[in-house]
Amino acid sequence: MRLCSISAKMMRNTVYGFLVLVSLSYTLGEEFNLFGDAGQAYSVEVNLGHPPQKFNLLVDTGSTTLAIASQVRQGGKSFFKANESTTIWDSGKQVQAKYSQGMWVGHLASDWVQFPSLSNIPEVRTDLALITESHKFFMNGSGWQGLLGLAYLPVGAWGENVVVESWLDSVDRTLKKPISFQLKLCGVLNATNATHYGNFKMLDDATENKNTNQSYQTPVLRQRWYEVGVLSVRVINTNNNNSAPTQSTGTDIDNEICLKLNEEKSIVDSGTTNIRLPDTVFREIVGQIRNAVSKINVISDEFWYHGEAGCWPQPQEWSLPWIAIDLLSVDADNQYFTLEIPPQTYMRVVSTGEAGTDFVCYKLGLEAGPETVLGYTAMEGLQVLFNRSAGWIGWQTSNCGSNARITGPYNASTSLIDSCQLRRPVSETAVSIRAAQWALCAISIIAAGVLVYLLAPCVKAVCRKPLRTQQISLSTAALVEQET
Ligand SMILES: *[C@@H]1O[C@H](CO)[C@@H](O)[C@H](O)[C@H]1NC(C)=O
Ligand SMILES: *[C@@H]1O[C@H](CO)[C@@H](O)[C@H](O)[C@H]1NC(C)=O
Ligand SMILES: *[C@@H]1O[C@H](CO)[C@@H](O)[C@H](O)[C@H]1NC(C)=O
Ligand SMILES: *[C@@H]1O[C@H](CO)[C@@H](O)[C@H](O)[C@H]1NC(C)=O
Ligand SMILES: *[C@@H]1O[C@H](CO)[C@@H](O)[C@H](O)[C@H]1NC(C)=O
Repeated sequence: MRLCSISAKMMRNTVYGFLVLVSLSYTLGEEFNLFGDAGQAYSVEVNLGHPPQKFNLLVDTGSTTLAIASQVRQGGKSFFKANESTTIWDSGKQVQAKYSQGMWVGHLASDWVQFPSLSNIPEVRTDLALITESHKFFMNGSGWQGLLGLAYLPVGAWGENVVVESWLDSVDRTLKKPISFQLKLCGVLNATNATHYGNFKMLDDATENKNTNQSYQTPVLRQRWYEVGVLSVRVINTNNNNSAPTQSTGTDIDNEICLKLNEEKSIVDSGTTNIRLPDTVFREIVGQIRNAVSKINVISDEFWYHGEAGCWPQPQEWSLPWIAIDLLSVDADNQYFTLEIPPQTYMRVVSTGEAGTDFVCYKLGLEAGPETVLGYTAMEGLQVLFNRSAGWIGWQTSNCGSNARITGPYNASTSLIDSCQLRRPVSETAVSIRAAQWALCAISIIAAGVLVYLLAPCVKAVCRKPLRTQQISLSTAALVEQET
């Protein structure tokens, strides 16, 4: 037993040495302003009010309003003390947001907001929601106290006769020109620490984009959330070698899958962790990945289908298939391109060295749900530009994170917009935009006791102690459409 634990540690140290080298070369010349604890989304530091109070806001493309805790809450000590800001203007009007699991209620105020890491953006006065009550929204020990919503106005927080201006709109108004933003999410820097890093940047049309790699653009089909055309999600087989798939992967789009994926809507949401897929597509993909993995070792159903963590005595080199996500191209309605996601990205490191053990735990970065959500797992290792005013999202490979790639463009024989019914209009008359209730962070606290899976029988004795870890999953629920 002793022998086993020592050898596991030795193996790990070798891997660590390598990873530390790799991560150093990533960090050189890289400025990270986004951080996330294990299992949580990425957040950015903000100064609110005068004199400034510092907080971390979760960067969320799945909602629109800047919302901040303004009272003591369970599991978090830090909150915005509105009465200590000399510049606060509190309307007293109630606003609220509902989630598929959880909600908050607060009131509408406005104050000065500045992000220390965004040097090209001035301090602006913007609307904020001061959260006074919440249910299943904040988490114990989460590193953030509020949300920075980056989507379009229709999915802002809701209140009677209230329109809550977003921070992005305030910036556009102040600078008198549209500003785009870019998320470069890098994931974990090494396998010994589950904290993940990234960069959040604002770009106007004159700002030079230093990444010269080809950019692939997908249109925003409806400007509420970032709703895009996800044409298919597939497994690409590699030769069981950790390398990228060797062949280009353009295939004809399967109409049935495409209709299924976009039946409700498909959104790009940095406030959600996983890639969420309609149940049938999810089961198909997981089945295929599982078949590939079953040759090497056995991981139980709980891991694949129920979001449980799997833990190993050392970091894993995953020899698994890649996942391909086909997105409609902005250039022609029969054209698409493909995001190729490696197993290092979708087998997410969620905790390391917990509870006095040396185990590294992973969770599957895929989940089943009613609609398609490209959570941050689909963005890690890529550089994603949200051009809000022009209505497209640009994808490029990046110099940090996993070696995710983009291939294409590919041509289909017919219009994908027609065959996948992507232009289904939302009937504006039937939907009260103001009454649109959004929902973003269904918070599910999973896995009080994490299941432990073992590679070699000899290691079994080492990890009898049950591992405990708390994880969250952020998600968006359907727009509640209300009759006017
Ligand atoms: C949060 O922490 C409090 C006490 O610190 C505890 O009573 C509560 O059960 C925790 N909630 C969750 C969801 O873990
Ligand atoms: C991971 O890194 C962060 C920041 O570098 C540090 O604060 C944290 O304690 C580390 N966690 C572990 C488990 O080592
Ligand atoms: C946003 O899109 C418009 C129109 O396509 C383009 O002119 C502008 O340069 C884009 N902005 C950025 C930052 O790429
Ligand atoms: C695995 O990759 C190496 C180099 O990247 C290559 O030489 C080898 O043939 C590959 N193995 C298989 C089974 O394709
Ligand atoms: C795809 O279609 C575009 C025009 O729609 C054409 O310019 C391009 O050559 C085509 N590419 C291929 C690989 O057929």
